[in-house]
Amino acid sequence: MSAKQTMNKIEVKNVFKIFGARAEDALKLIRQQKAKDQVLAETGCVVGVNDLSLSIGSGEIFVIMGLSGSGKSTLVRHFNRLIDPTSGQILVDGEDILQYDMKPCANSAGTRSAWCSRASACCRTAPCWTTSPTA
Ligand SMILES: Nc1ncnc2c1ncn2[C@@H]1O[C@H](COP(=O)(O)OP(=O)(O)O)[C@@H](O)[C@H]1O
Ligand SMILES: [Mg+2]
Repeated sequence: MSAKQTMNKIEVKNVFKIFGARAEDALKLIRQQKAKDQVLAETGCVVGVNDLSLSIGSGEIFVIMGLSGSGKSTLVRHFNRLIDPTSGQILVDGEDILQYDMKPCANSAGTRSAWCSRASACCRTAPCWTTSPTA
């Protein structure tokens, strides 16, 4: 692993988040460069995040800016597994967090809090402090 890689705290790799029942169909369309409103019209799905990649260094102050509805909150909700991507990878300290078993967290506020606290240490933004499983 290179020196640059070891400094990354959070890595987001080609993340797509599609909301709706036909997410796979919508993903195909968005990969074909169809616009968000076209995808909505054809599949009834909303594109929340479209092929996002970024790296955040340990201790770095990283600002996520964008228009309302551009996917800022959706992105941050991935960091503590409130939601998972339709496609793509998210690494924290080089570990693929999507491989973690989150089932115990659905039944245990304590376990969920522990994970959220760890994620929040990486990313101190409002959605990380959410405790509702449905947020
Ligand atoms: N749970 C959801 N179900 C359906 N669409 C959603 C959901 N959450 C967010 N969206 C949609 O995803 C897009 C990004 O939303 P959001 O991340 O809230 O944007 P931002 O935080 O940048 O204002 C918007 O089009 C929004 O309507
Ligand atoms: Mg928001």
